[in-house]
Amino acid sequence: MSDSVKVALTRRLPEQVEARLSALFDTTLHDADAPLAGEALLARAKDADVLAATLGDKLDAAFFDAVGDRLKLVANFGAGIDHIDVAAANARGITVTNTPSVLAEDAADMAMALILAVPRRLVEGVAALQDGKFEGWSPTWMLGRRVRGKKLGIIGLGRVGEAIARRARAFGLSIHYHNRNPINPHIEDELEATYWDSLDQMLAHVDIVSVNCPHTPATFHLLSRRRLELMQPHAYLVNISRGEIVDEAALAEMIEAGRLGGAGLDVYERGGPNEKLLGLKDVVLLPHMASATVESRIEMGERVIINIKMFADGHKPPDRVILGLDPEC
Ligand code: 8YV
Repeated sequence: MSDSVKVALTRRLPEQVEARLSALFDTTLHDADAPLAGEALLARAKDADVLAATLGDKLDAAFFDAVGDRLKLVANFGAGIDHIDVAAANARGITVTNTPSVLAEDAADMAMALILAVPRRLVEGVAALQDGKFEGWSPTWMLGRRVRGKKLGIIGLGRVGEAIARRARAFGLSIHYHNRNPINPHIEDELEATYWDSLDQMLAHVDIVSVNCPHTPATFHLLSRRRLELMQPHAYLVNISRGEIVDEAALAEMIEAGRLGGAGLDVYERGGPNEKLLGLKDVVLLPHMASATVESRIEMGERVIINIKMFADGHKPPDRVILGLDPEC
């Protein structure tokens, strides 16, 4: 049955993933590496049984209202599903899947890189050297802050958060976290992690905050100006999840005013960083690349294929997004 299933892609995916999708299903590839928008996206989806979508594709209620009867599965390439109105999809009998787990370790590496890079002024040091400002070692030049012994507060200790916690412990950080509910006590013990029911209290207590919860209506601007103001003036913020969780304008203003130590960001409220952030010295800004390894992207593609194959064979795909099941935040 599989080869009669029509699968439409919305972006270019790794070559081997596209080849396998084409071998298994009647697959329409997307040649340009630019997102399809509006009518073009709708036209492609209307004509398919499965849409292999990815972040950037706006699959809102209006999209599902207009998409017609053929589409039965949205197999998202990516873990985050904040661009998909899952309730609207499900109400029309459309299943949504994502690709959790496979990118967690690579994403955690990048978070850890930011946790080190911001306090230790890594990017500033590289730039100073490249700009010819290095005149030899000095006892007082380029002093950052020690990472070992500091408290890391993880907002959303799920797969990625846990992988960050394991790395952070090896660097001598103590682990604090805020979730809706405490995690499995065995994992909590192993990480020697402290659960904070109150996000406000945790923010005031820790030295580095890592944002790892999904973006949902409930977590939009979870780190509002009021909450950012609870953080200690030397504290750093790291976000590899979604920009919308942090009030980015407030964050930039507070770092500029010396009310926060700095930030390491991979994600932004509006695609790229705001002007003010770009001009600041105590920030490390990356272009949404936390899961950007060849290995992660191929494994993400494999999950997409597995989900479609199971679905095409009449089974429930393993990575179904089930609303309300997310334990974080
Ligand atoms: C990020 C992503 O690495 O899968 C997604 O939805 O955005 C990934 O590229 C992830 O957000 C890390 O937490």
